[in-house]
Amino acid sequence: MKKVVVLGSINMDMVMETDRLPKVGETLLGDTIDYYVGGKGANQAVAAARIGAPVSLIAKIGDDTFGSKVYQHLKQEKIDVEAVSTEKNIFTGVASIFKLKEDNAIVVLPGANMLLNEVDAVINEKTTAQDVFLTQLEIPLETVKKGLALAKEAGAITILNPAPYNESVLEMLPFVDIITPNETEFEGLLGRTLTDPEELEEEMLTWAKTHQTQLIVTRGSQGISYTTANDVVTIPAEKVAVVDTTGAGDTFNGILAACLAQGKTVAEAVRLAGFGATLSVTKLGAQTGMPTAAEIEHFAQ
Ligand code: ATP
Ligand code: RIB
Repeated sequence: MKKVVVLGSINMDMVMETDRLPKVGETLLGDTIDYYVGGKGANQAVAAARIGAPVSLIAKIGDDTFGSKVYQHLKQEKIDVEAVSTEKNIFTGVASIFKLKEDNAIVVLPGANMLLNEVDAVINEKTTAQDVFLTQLEIPLETVKKGLALAKEAGAITILNPAPYNESVLEMLPFVDIITPNETEFEGLLGRTLTDPEELEEEMLTWAKTHQTQLIVTRGSQGISYTTANDVVTIPAEKVAVVDTTGAGDTFNGILAACLAQGKTVAEAVRLAGFGATLSVTKLGAQTGMPTAAEIEHFAQ
């Protein structure tokens, strides 16, 4: 079986549940706090590993308590952490997540993630033509670009999840086989806002005709739309009782990469990743609800 190589961030997520956000100058008493391993790189690696794909993670942590906790957690998830290095005198990335009833607000302190710079040797060592290479934008943008270029040169399938969005993504497209924005990130790629679903599908069709990179747009509770050579296909999401949508996109990307590594078609990989992402929003914490292959199969019946 091919493996998934993830280049990305690791954070400790501090999830605070509160009824509303404080106004500037105001102090609020919240309800609970929970600590979860998070960060887009770690989340996507865990999502891929849970469904049984071999996964190597290339990332950085700090020399602190959170660093050792996340490292142990990733090992328990059966992820190859040989290329997760520890940096001295800097903290492990932290995300303060305010979880409100319907949505969330997040502040990320990247810490060691922003020191993930010299990755050439490790990418060359870990990535082969058989593999799927998956990355996002919570680490230095130059590192993302270099990682994609090296993985493409090695012959791997390259996937870019352009989150959080940055316009330098446009320079990376020649090295990207599949790009997976959410709707807001797709608007960033287009450089304008979209008014309705019809317009989104029209823009996706135009994309399909003008770009080599395959486009998959995740659309929250609306599901997923993806381009084929001449068309746009939409798979609506199943209705579930939503507890926490943090990491839904990460779950989708990790499972998508794992399914492609397992030799599935893009259509089948998107379908299964959509089921997996929907399952993930039924539990609190980015990784808690990430399903196994058996759980996806059961849900899909
Ligand atoms: P996040 O930033 O919260 O990780 P995202 O904005 O990157 O997520 P979304 O498009 O919101 O990504 O969600 C990814 C996928 O998760 C969706 O395409 C869908 O399959 C599933 N999903 C998300 N929210 C819901 C929901 N409310 N009900 C069902 N499925 C959902
Ligand atoms: O995509 C969800 C992730 O974004 C969280 O786990 C948090 O760490 C932020 O990086």
